[in-house]
Formats: sequence, structure tokens, C-alpha cells
Amino acid sequence: MRTPAPGGSLAPADLERLRAGQALQMDHYGGGRLPFVSLQARGLVQHMVPLEGESAGQVLEVLDASGGYASACLGAAHPCLQPAFREGLERGYVTDELGSLERTLLLEELFGPGGRWADRFPGGEYHASGRNSGSEGLELALRLVLESGFDRRRLTAKVGREARRTVLAFEGAWHGWTGGLVPLLNRRHYRLGLPLPGTEPPFGLDVAFLPFGEAALLERFFAEQGSKLSAVIVEPIQGDAGILVPPPGYLRRLAALCREHDVLLVADEVLTFAKTGRFFAMTDEEGPIPTDVTVIGKSLGMGAVSTSMVIARRELTVRPSGAVSTSDLRPLTCALMRSGLRYLAEERLIERAGALGTELRERLRRDVVEAFPALFQEVRGQGYMNGVELTERASHGLSRLRQRLLEAGVFVEFMAGAGRRSHGLRYLFPAMRVAPPLIANDEDLRRIVERIREGTRRFVEAGP
Ligand SMILES: Cc1ncc(COP(=O)(O)O)c(C=O)c1O
Repeated sequence: MRTPAPGGSLAPADLERLRAGQALQMDHYGGGRLPFVSLQARGLVQHMVPLEGESAGQVLEVLDASGGYASACLGAAHPCLQPAFREGLERGYVTDELGSLERTLLLEELFGPGGRWADRFPGGEYHASGRNSGSEGLELALRLVLESGFDRRRLTAKVGREARRTVLAFEGAWHGWTGGLVPLLNRRHYRLGLPLPGTEPPFGLDVAFLPFGEAALLERFFAEQGSKLSAVIVEPIQGDAGILVPPPGYLRRLAALCREHDVLLVADEVLTFAKTGRFFAMTDEEGPIPTDVTVIGKSLGMGAVSTSMVIARRELTVRPSGAVSTSDLRPLTCALMRSGLRYLAEERLIERAGALGTELRERLRRDVVEAFPALFQEVRGQGYMNGVELTERASHGLSRLRQRLLEAGVFVEFMAGAGRRSHGLRYLFPAMRVAPPLIANDEDLRRIVERIREGTRRFVEAGP
């Protein structure tokens, strides 16, 4: 297929081919998919083609402020990954039954003496496993929690742990869509008609929900129900709930409560990993906030492969061959991670995102929220993980707004928002997520905000 440069148009037969190709892919959005196709990309720039409307077939230059659901931290086709592809392929394809040189190099660089993350996860205390996606990583984390309370020899709950069958999760959380995780989502839309936890001992899972970031509710919950808890599963900044940043001290207090009550703390850092101005969002001014299990994903695959990693205390394990995976830290995946992580660290892109993110939020406040108060109400975030909460009115015209934004040359995503929360807390509407790849510099951020403003202006001008 001949793909013209931005400004040019696709041949009608090619446009038809792209429409047919789109129809061959299962639609996971109930008809709400964006009618756009990406032709190619480099860095932050994507060449996209609308499939419908007046400009169907015209190639647009679009700035990516989404990073592929916040996974492509190096943007597209980053040169630092090219040698890793070659080396990774040359080092073969061992499964998790065998060791590999490339896996050794990666794990040593991360968790070995003096390793990049050894202050938080020293290799003597933690071990790691690779999975194919964030969802699979969370499934393994949940499995580690359940296995920790289960006596494999007697096939019953461990003595003294019989009453600990509750997992605490948070309202509005998103941990993935696979079977074991559905019970951890408090939203009916994701749960009804799908497997729910059996509550029968010793195999049952009972899930309690609290609104996120409410310290007093957390204290009360632990005081009343701490002895029933086996684990807490938390996103340190909630993503799908609309980029909710907890108040200072909240996460450290949560970790302390877990320790006091002998409860495992699982941090879902699939989304926050490398996005918030630090590798891990479970960090405050005192340093790392300790966790028993941490799951990272998305950016870890550098936008090149889908992968996740579960980092757990050594005493947490699964039953023999209970979590075997064909693709646990394959040499190619390890080589890509190693090159990408090294590049992020050497270029100090994570720290830069911390500082530039503050300016980005300021611009979003001034040029988007204040410019369109009928559509946007609040900016929240840290680093390059930011949300702009919509008003009720704007939340009804989401797909049209997104299309206008794309036509104005910027790609953003929208998060569902936590919606209705318990304890009389206010309703949280969907949020526009502005989470560009970490390669975005100050000038890129300025252009992103400019295009968001222009797309919103076109949306308003077009009327209801
Ligand atoms: C916080 C969080 N956890 C888990 C997942 C699931 O990751 P994946 O889509 O790679 O399965 C996501 C994906 O959006 C996420 O945001």
C-alpha cells in the first residue's frame, strides 16, 4: 500500500482495505472504536487516516499524548532498541524452566548488589517473575496472596489464617479484565454476568471496597476488619478512576497498617511504572514505601513488547508448576527492557517528566480548564500521568470530542472515572488522560496542549 505523507490522501481502494481490515478485528468497545487507522510512527508523531467523515482518507500528522495506553515510554521506533532486538534474538528463546544469560544480566542489573532497584527490592529479599501483560501480572499477584494463606499439603487454609479471606480493593480501580481480577473491580459494568468470587472456605475470596485516598475510612476499616484481611491491592495513583492522586502520607500509612495487621500489600504499578517522575509511585520524601508484591507493566515493554513483571517477597511462591509461563522473561524481552531502562536512566527522562509534568498541568489548567469551564473541571496528576476531569455535559459527547482532537492533531485517551463512590463522596466523571511518552520535551508538551485547545475549540464550534 502506498502511504502518502501528511496532507496527502490514500487511494480509495486502499481506504476501503483499511476499513475492511478494521472490521476483521474484534471490537472491544461496543461500536465505540475510533474510526482512525495509524499508518506509521516515529517518536511522538503518528500518521493517521480517518476512515469516515469529510476528511476520510486524508493523512494527518498526530502528536501522541497517550503512549498506547501509556505503554510506549520511548515513543515509536526508538534507536536505543534496535541493537537490543538483534542481541535478544541471537540469545535464543528459553522458557522459565532454564536460565538465560540475558535474563541474568537484566535481573542482576535491577536487583543485584548495587542494582538499579536494589534499595527497594534487594535480591536477597525479593524475586521476580515475568508475565505477558499487566492483567497476567495481577493474576499472579493475587495467586501469591491466596497461596500464602493456603496449606498445600493439607489442602486447607493455613492454621491461624482461616479467617483471613478478605482482600481490600478500591472503588474505581482497574487491575485488568481476566477472570480472577473481575471480583476486584467494584463496577457493575465490568462484573455482571461474569465469574464472581466463590466465598466458600478455604477457596473463597471475599472482596471489600473503600473509596481511594480517604485516610479516615482506611483507619476505621483496619480497626474494625483488619483481622479478616489477607491483602490490600492498590494502584498508588488510580488510573482508570480518573488519575486520582492520594493525599501525602496516605500510601505510607497504608503500608504501616498492613504491617501492623499482618496483611500483604500489593501495589499495582502497571500504569504508574516510570510515569510519575520516578520508576515507582510507591515513593515519598522518606524514600521507597515497602510492598510485599509490586506489579509493573506497560512502559516496561518500551512500547515494543507486551510484558509485565511481578516482584514479590521471597517467601511468597506458588505451588510447583502452578504458574508456569511459556514467556517468563524471554531473552528478547529482557534485552529490550535492559536497553530501554538504561536509556531512561542515562538520559534522566524520568526525573525530567517529574519537573515538566508540573508545567504541563499548569498549562492544562490555564489553556484547557479555564478556557472551557463548561467542559473541563479539574487537572490532576504526577509527572507524565495526568488527567483532566470532564464536566457532566462533556462526558456525554466523548467520542465526538476525541475525533475533533485527532483532527486537530493530538491523540489522547479518556478514562472511565470512578463514577459513584460510597460515603457520600462526589461523583467522578470521565477524565481525559494526557500521558505522553517520556521522550516528549517541553516544546512537544506545549504543542500537545495547543492542539488540545484547538480540538476542543472545534468541538465547541460544531455544537451539539
Ligand atoms: C493499573 C492497571 N493495572 C493493570 C492493567 C492491565 O494491564 P494489561 O492491559 O497489560 O493487561 C492496567 C491496564 O490498563 C492498568 O491500568
